[in-house]
Amino acid sequence: MYLSYKIIFLLFLCISSAKSQDPLGEFCNKNTNISIGGKLSTNIDKLLAELALKTPSTSFIATSYGKDQEKVYGLAQCRGDINTQDCSNCIQDATRQIRQRCPNQADARIWYDYCFLRYSNKSFIADVDTSFGIFYFNVENVTDPEDFNKKLGALMDQIRGEAVMHKEKGIGKGKSMLSPFVTLYALVQCTRDLSEINCAQCLAIAVNNFSTFCNNRKGCRVLYSSCYVRYELYPFFFPLDPTKTKPSNVRKLIVYP
Ligand SMILES: *[C@@H]1O[C@H](CO)[C@@H](O)[C@H](O)[C@H]1NC(C)=O
Ligand SMILES: *[C@@H]1O[C@H](CO)[C@@H](O)[C@H](O)[C@H]1NC(C)=O
Ligand SMILES: *[C@@H]1O[C@H](CO)[C@@H](O)[C@H](O)[C@H]1NC(C)=O
Ligand SMILES: *[C@@H]1O[C@H](CO)[C@@H](O)[C@H](O)[C@H]1NC(C)=O
Repeated sequence: MYLSYKIIFLLFLCISSAKSQDPLGEFCNKNTNISIGGKLSTNIDKLLAELALKTPSTSFIATSYGKDQEKVYGLAQCRGDINTQDCSNCIQDATRQIRQRCPNQADARIWYDYCFLRYSNKSFIADVDTSFGIFYFNVENVTDPEDFNKKLGALMDQIRGEAVMHKEKGIGKGKSMLSPFVTLYALVQCTRDLSEINCAQCLAIAVNNFSTFCNNRKGCRVLYSSCYVRYELYPFFFPLDPTKTKPSNVRKLIVYP
C-alpha cells in the first residue's frame, strides 16, 4: 500500500516535470494571415498531427496536406543525435507551441535545440532559406582569438563535410582540444530535404556570419530555417562527455538580413 502510494507520487512528479519547453525562437510570417477555423487552418492542424506522428521514427519528414489553394507544406526534423523519445517530446511541444504563437499565419516556424518545425502554404521543400536567423551567443570572449579561430575553422570545415554527405542523418559533429583543459565542441546540420550543394551553401552562410555575430565568443548558435550550427566550450551533443560546466550567460539576437 505504502509502496504504491510512493509510485503514484513519483508518477505525479514525472508528469508535472514533463511540461513543455520554451522554444529558442519562432517566426510567424505576418504577411500570411489567415482566418482561424478556415480550410487552410484546418489543413495545418491535420498536417501538424501527421508531423507529430511520423517524425520520431526517422527524425525527419517533409510532406504536404490538402490540395489547390488550401495545400500546406510541412517539415519537421530532430537533431541527428537525439533519441526517439526526446525527438517525440520535442515535436509534440513544437506542434502545440507553434499554433499558440502563430495562430493565424499560414507560414510559421519554430526552433528548439532538439528539433525544428515549419509549415507554409507556399512550397519551400529543398530550397535554402536563411532569410530569418536567430543567433545565441555566450557573452564571454575567448582569451586567445587567433588560435581559437584557427581551430574553430578547421573543426567546422571537417564537420561541414560530414553533414553535406548526408550520412548519420545529415549531422556533422566533432571536438578539438584547445589545450589540455579546454575542449571545443561543434555540431552542424541541414534540414534533410536539401541537396549536398544547398546544404553546403546554408552552412557556408552560417559560418560566414560568425565574424559578425559570434566574433570570438566562447559559444554561439546560428538557427536558420535550413540549417543549425553550434559550437561551445562544453559538451552539448549526444553521446554526452562526462559532465563539465554548463554555459553561464547567453544572449539572443534575432536578425532579418
Ligand atoms: C496579421 O495579424 C497580426 C495579429 O495576429 C497583426 O498584428 C498583423 O498586423 C496582421 N498583418 C497584416 C499584414 O494584416
Ligand atoms: C498563402 O496564404 C496567404 C494568406 O491567405 C495568401 O495571401 C497567399 O497568396 C497564399 N500563397 C499561396 C502560394 O497560395
Ligand atoms: C566581448 O567582446 C565584445 C566585443 O567584441 C565586447 O563588446 C564584450 O563586452 C566582451 N564581453 C566581455 C564579457 O568582456
Ligand atoms: C550572413 O551572410 C550572408 C553572406 O554570406 C549575407 O547575405 C547575410 O545577410 C548575412 N546575415 C545573416 C543574418 O544571415
